[in-house]
Amino acid sequence: MAILSVLSAWIPLVLPLFLCVFFVAFLGYCLYIKYVHLKYDHIPGPPRKSFILGHSPILVEVMKKDGVVHDTFLEWAETYGPVYRINILHYVMIGVYCPEATKEILMSPKYPKDKFLYKRLFNLFGQRFLGNGLVTALDHEQWYKQRRIMDPAFSSLYLRGLTSTFNERADKLMDKLSEHAENKTVANMLHLFNCVALDVITKVQAVFVGYNCVFKIDFTVAHFINHPILFQFKPQNWSFINEVREASHLLRSTGAQWINQRKTAMQNGEDVPKDILTQIIKSAGQEESMTKEDEEFMLDNFVTFFIAGQETTANQLSFCVMELGRHPDILEKARKEVDEVIGMKREISYDDLGNLTYLSQVLKETLRLYPTAPGTSRDLIRDMVIEGVHIPKGVTCMFNSYTSCRMEKFFKDPLKFDPDRFHPDAPKPYYCYYPFALGPRACLGQNFAQLEAKVVMAKLLQRFDFTLVPGQSFDIKDTGTLRPKSGVPCIIKHRHTK
Ligand code: HEM
Ligand SMILES: *[C@@H]1O[C@H](CO)[C@@H](O)[C@H](O)[C@H]1NC(C)=O
Ligand SMILES: *[C@@H]1O[C@H](CO)[C@@H](O)[C@H](O)[C@H]1NC(C)=O
Ligand SMILES: *[C@@H]1O[C@H](CO)[C@@H](O)[C@H](O)[C@H]1NC(C)=O
Repeated sequence: MAILSVLSAWIPLVLPLFLCVFFVAFLGYCLYIKYVHLKYDHIPGPPRKSFILGHSPILVEVMKKDGVVHDTFLEWAETYGPVYRINILHYVMIGVYCPEATKEILMSPKYPKDKFLYKRLFNLFGQRFLGNGLVTALDHEQWYKQRRIMDPAFSSLYLRGLTSTFNERADKLMDKLSEHAENKTVANMLHLFNCVALDVITKVQAVFVGYNCVFKIDFTVAHFINHPILFQFKPQNWSFINEVREASHLLRSTGAQWINQRKTAMQNGEDVPKDILTQIIKSAGQEESMTKEDEEFMLDNFVTFFIAGQETTANQLSFCVMELGRHPDILEKARKEVDEVIGMKREISYDDLGNLTYLSQVLKETLRLYPTAPGTSRDLIRDMVIEGVHIPKGVTCMFNSYTSCRMEKFFKDPLKFDPDRFHPDAPKPYYCYYPFALGPRACLGQNFAQLEAKVVMAKLLQRFDFTLVPGQSFDIKDTGTLRPKSGVPCIIKHRHTK
């Protein structure tokens, strides 16, 4: 009782004080934002929508309409030039579309990935997600240690050995397509490719336990980045958030199970495959000194490879089928090459893949128009002059392959799908095409992904005729990664080979 009466006496005194402190803090924050504006406003950029939120209402508006934010970035790049500014709260981001600066910043290990975005992926609604795994590790030492250990699992020697796995998994997909051809049912290519890509990454049957959850997580990553704060406070979203937490927990516990099985096999001296899983275990250090944090670290990478490797490749394949369906001449040319190089052979060899040059061009052009992981960003740790504009340090530089690849100044008639841009004799794009990012933090799985994609496409062209179901949208769905909105429904027929 006494306490209550003391409290009730104090509240009228404390409350105004509290409000006062809050007001002063808010004022201080606004002054800080003003200071940031003064410091960076000489950099060209679109007008802000709001003093505090800066440009974010514009971007949120685009997302609400199910648009592609990168199209807005493209508009701004065309209007405000190769270096433009975006404000969100007290953060300043700079879009950079200048090859020299792109080269300088991305090729150097000195500029760390930006904290604003990548820290956000450490946890997903309080459940550890990508943690300090390869994609999100910010500390150079911590990243380098892991990368050195993972590299051998992606060497060309090792990839050559994976060709039969790629063939095997692609054949399973072809069986599914056969069923669609025989049943005369529409095949949703995006869905089918997602199944095969997932299978190749893990080579474990039980993976389909995790299949549905990946979509959810992936979808949420996008939402989480777009609405970092508001999303989790809306009661309407809580059941969804719980599902996501459970899904990402399931992914981690499945990972823990597989890792333990593999570890036991390694300890028993069994002959284990030198695959991604084994390397993940090695990357965590010595068994004797394994701490809880080391365990978490392995799981970070398990989730990282699961997420990084699956979606991106499946989406690329779907876009590729979509563009081939729209360009019968290009489709014919690619098919002719496949017939010449592999003919009726069932097993495609590593050397055959090297011979499929036009198909490589098609896949590269697909990633030019549809870079499924559209960009990367770096913190600018020292002042720099880009295209004559002085950029004080402390900003985040955004490099966006989607935007840059759709600029007329880098690619003539940019919206035209034209694989000849990547003809071996054509000049190589100069730091304006980077679907796998560039430099030390570039995609580790680039060659892995492109071998896989080639095997799948070659078999598809070799065995099937496909036509796009009429009336489908060719729009892009932006969920953080890019995917075809329609899912690319196709009518599949067996080819009438002699
Ligand atoms: C078409 C398919 C793919 C595309 C377009 C793609 C694109 C990218 C991009 C743009 C990055 C840089 C991300 C950033 O800066 O935040 C990246 C990083 C990474 N990717 Fe991929 N990726 C693909 C497939 C794969 C596959 C199949 C794997 C693994 C099996 C993989 C593993 C990784 C890893 C580990 C990193 C982090 C590298 C590091 O920081 O050291 N990716 N990828
Ligand atoms: C094709 O039809 C068979 C038999 O009705 C069925 O078992 C199978 O699931 C169908 N496959 C597809 C892809 O529609
Ligand atoms: C989150 O809540 C908003 C309403 O505030 C609703 O429009 C949206 O569909 C919800 N999202 C999910 C994924 O549940
Ligand atoms: C394909 O590759 C093989 C071996 O790598 C080579 O001998 C052959 O000439 C190549 N064929 C074409 C059409 O490039």
